[in-house]
Amino acid sequence: MDKQQAQEKIAHLSELLTRYNHEYHVLDKPSVPDSEYDQKLQELLKLEEEFPELVTPDSPTQRVGGEPLEGFQKVRHNVAMMSLGNAFNETDLHAFARRGREGTDKPISFVCELKIDGLAVSLTYENGKFVRGATRGDGTIGEDITSNLRTIRSIPLAISEQGTIEVRGEAFMPHKSFLTLNEEKEANGEEPFANPRNAAAGSLRQLDPKIAAKRNLDIFLYGVGEWENSALTSHSERLERMQELGLKTNPEWKKCATIEEVIDYINYWAEERPHLNYEIDGIVVKIDDLDQQEELGFTAKNPRWAIAYKFPAEEVITNLTAIELNVGRTGVITPTAILDPVKVAGTTVGRASLHNEDLIRAKDIRIGDTVVIKKAGDIIPEVVRVVEEKRPKDTKEYHMPEVCPACGSELVRLEEEVALRCINPNCPAQLKEGLIHFVSRNAMNIDGLGEKVIIQLFQEELIHTMADLYRLNRDELLQLERMGEKSVTNLLEAIEASKENSLERLLFGLGIRFIGSKAAKTIAASFETMENLQNASYEELIAVDEIGDKMADSIVQYFSEQEVIDLLDALRELDLNMEYTGPKQAKQDGVFADKTVVITGRMESFTRGVAKELVESMGGSVTGSVSKNTDILIAGEDAGSKYDKAEKLGVTIWDEEQLQQAIIVRSELP
Ligand code: IVH
Repeated sequence: MDKQQAQEKIAHLSELLTRYNHEYHVLDKPSVPDSEYDQKLQELLKLEEEFPELVTPDSPTQRVGGEPLEGFQKVRHNVAMMSLGNAFNETDLHAFARRGREGTDKPISFVCELKIDGLAVSLTYENGKFVRGATRGDGTIGEDITSNLRTIRSIPLAISEQGTIEVRGEAFMPHKSFLTLNEEKEANGEEPFANPRNAAAGSLRQLDPKIAAKRNLDIFLYGVGEWENSALTSHSERLERMQELGLKTNPEWKKCATIEEVIDYINYWAEERPHLNYEIDGIVVKIDDLDQQEELGFTAKNPRWAIAYKFPAEEVITNLTAIELNVGRTGVITPTAILDPVKVAGTTVGRASLHNEDLIRAKDIRIGDTVVIKKAGDIIPEVVRVVEEKRPKDTKEYHMPEVCPACGSELVRLEEEVALRCINPNCPAQLKEGLIHFVSRNAMNIDGLGEKVIIQLFQEELIHTMADLYRLNRDELLQLERMGEKSVTNLLEAIEASKENSLERLLFGLGIRFIGSKAAKTIAASFETMENLQNASYEELIAVDEIGDKMADSIVQYFSEQEVIDLLDALRELDLNMEYTGPKQAKQDGVFADKTVVITGRMESFTRGVAKELVESMGGSVTGSVSKNTDILIAGEDAGSKYDKAEKLGVTIWDEEQLQQAIIVRSELP
């Protein structure tokens, strides 16, 4: 066979196999037996082996490719991946519908979908090719898991639609695959996965795509991040169009004209749920019309046009055998119920936080009680109540201790607080928790330094303070359990790399009271260096937008402590970056100060991501959709429906050149 013939044959086989794949995995309607699929695949593999130059990235043979990755790259989502607000009963659903009606002019209608319990992912197609798949991460930055997602056969590697399309959905593990996987794991003496969601997430977090490929994952797509030039006017049309393109949607969605119909749908699925081959944890209700979705917009965290109805939590009975006391990072003592392990909503629960003494008193929880437990929001175990009839005769009311269980110093109850605190700054339990926080993802983000390693480092007395982390050496780390050469090298590299972090990570990692990661960022961007911040007065702090009285007080107090001054000196000496290196702080007089900007279409000189950063660095806030609150639409080529909408609403429209002008002006500013 010559090359020309091979090329034709390869194209033909690829097309056939892609079609078979779609019929089997997306439509659930195979048209040929598996043996025929396998035979054609072998034929294609053989030809590609003979003519390696003819292998294309979207060939059906290229789902599992390449070497294991070193780690996952970070991906910034052009349109934030938000989460949904929850509804737990009919009243919440009626309230959602009322807010919808009040926020729009025309009558509303809904689409109901199953809420799949898996892992939220985003898939990007550029000019018909699947180019990137990412996790949700914190909603703004996720991880690039393209090579794992490519192994999911229901994700098409190519679609017949031009431009950039970013769709979103839930990757999950069907029950059948989950059961087989756990049987295999148990047979190999490995720890089984607690539930299908963990199994799906664990599979997609593997660096070697060959593992994900074996896990039989699946996906249902339920939404759109970016889709330019789309003539679609409703969510239901989008779902239909996605399915036409081979982007697999869940077939059970339904249009509902009224909230009563929505409630019927919910009741139906509450009954039918056990018969599905995958896990669902609720029903998502969305307002169908896209213009109305835009009009309703978002709160800080959730869209106003959608809500997640959560099925009621399963309740089970078990024994409470002990109450353990934990000392947190800020010295708060938290009581935890130790329970006889029971299975609740898919996982085995052996502990539940009791929060504080007031709660124990209110529910009169005693050691030895039989208790009802559930998982709040299906995640966090909670003691609902005591079964009084079953209380043994000799139980006693529970009282918190007077001294810290870790260091023995006297506990105090601060004014207006329910919690008891240990206020000894050298309490070892607090130091340990502080370090766990310091290395965590939103703080210094040191990969490989999980809680278990920190606890070992502490027990071996290799670290006491944050600075000690940067003094660890190879030999010390090699002594630790389960630490081989490779993990030690990786860990040391991760520790070293964290020295370059921008100031806000360190600031958050220090664990200053009331300073969360968002406040840390605002403060770092305003003060730029740790030194400036250390010298900042209460007045200077409070002058910063978003920094309130409590935060300013807490910062001043924190930096006045001698121990803190010493710690920061030590960290400086160890070469930790003490400067803010993120986007420059928006100038108050920046071109886009206080302006809400939407960016759309293709531009020659910038990607949309870069344009967004530029606008933000000049004081603007960038949103995904045009509404009456939009001040400026920056439109590149083929701007599509956003352009039309902006025109209709009389929003100022800029072209690429105007954006460039704005940048020049900005760079001439002092
Ligand atoms: S719509 C703006 N639809 O539920 C957010 N989410 O907080 C739009 N989920 O983790 C989400 N099934 O991944 C939507 N049919 C569905 C869903 C669904 C599962 C997940 C989603 C997110 C969470 C919502």
